[in-house]
Amino acid sequence: MKRRQILTAGAVTAAATLSAGSAASAAPAGTGKKPGNGQKTPPGLAKKDNLAWAARSSMKIGTAVAGGGHHTDDPDSPSSTEAAAYAEVLNREFSSVSAENQMKWEYLHPERDTYAFEDGDAIASSAQQSGQVVRGHTLFWHSQNPTWLEEGDFGAEELRTILKDHIDTVVGHYRGDIQQWDVCNEIFTEEGELRENNIWLRELGPGIIADAFRWARAADPGALLFFNDYNVDGINPKSDAYYALIQELLAEGIPVDGFATQGHLSTRYGFPADLAENLQRFADLGLETAITELDVRMDLPESGRPTTEQLEKQAEYYRRVTEAAVAVDGCNSLTLWGFADSYSWVPGTFPGEGAATVMWEDFTRKPAYYAVQDALAEGSGRAGHPALRR
Ligand code: XIL
Repeated sequence: MKRRQILTAGAVTAAATLSAGSAASAAPAGTGKKPGNGQKTPPGLAKKDNLAWAARSSMKIGTAVAGGGHHTDDPDSPSSTEAAAYAEVLNREFSSVSAENQMKWEYLHPERDTYAFEDGDAIASSAQQSGQVVRGHTLFWHSQNPTWLEEGDFGAEELRTILKDHIDTVVGHYRGDIQQWDVCNEIFTEEGELRENNIWLRELGPGIIADAFRWARAADPGALLFFNDYNVDGINPKSDAYYALIQELLAEGIPVDGFATQGHLSTRYGFPADLAENLQRFADLGLETAITELDVRMDLPESGRPTTEQLEKQAEYYRRVTEAAVAVDGCNSLTLWGFADSYSWVPGTFPGEGAATVMWEDFTRKPAYYAVQDALAEGSGRAGHPALRR
């Protein structure tokens, strides 16, 4: 499948100012259902036919905002109509946005003495104009770090200073703009050991985790501070490791506010049926929980088009994740890792798999979209509302 969209955050912001009318006409011949109920929907209702409105007001429904990362290798830029269509859906459907790559070290901190805030700022200001909250991602990770950092020859004290400067500067820069920060991302292996390929853990030892949370709290006391990882949907050695670590940190008074599971699922594997139970045990520690990067990929047939059965199975996974999020008190944030297949990281990362998002390339809705919308509406009491009927 050809991935041709590169979307810089600048393009998102520029496109966001364009009218929804031009966006709608940008969609090529439909491969799924158009948003809304077509002619049957009175205009006042059509604007409620989205994911954010279906959810209870305390539950933020988010998406990653495309840009950087795998988008960078893609040779074609989106046309302005494509960018406008993208921005229209982004702002219509979602009440939360996450920087897919634009707030990672590699982007924000390309040289030791250089910070590059432009793309992150565009996301934050577009979100502010659209009334969306922002999830900041991420401050402490083993991946997508700049070469100067990974290949630098720094002593322990200097590395500590580098991390503190980064957190002070970045969290301080976005102070007041970020609802939730993924402070530490993916710090455990599948076996529940701290990762040795994480420069901070390897060079500075586990005590640096508490420092990162303390520094982030000091730089923006209003942001909720999270751990975030994949394959921690269910109860397993990796999520157990978080459960143990977080209890230790809380006992020491370290400001940890949340635990998030990314939710990168594949229909190759069974559904993590203990998702709600897992989130609930973190909620019982007094934490917020979140699902931060939901997508459900599948093995594509030779045609590249999922079968009806595959789409139904995918929809079921999306529905069950949404139901779990709705069921757990203190799970107030459910983010999709992109909303249209043309922007998804999946085909480039998992060969042979794809179709992982809730919309087709032209932003028409898959069964998975309606599964999420329906489960949100069940939770908010809006099920059966005329705006959501189809
Ligand atoms: C992915 C992005 O979607 C890609 O564009 C990039 O090339 C690689 O990173 N876990 C995370 C995210 O925490 O930051 C990753 O995002 C997906 C896995």
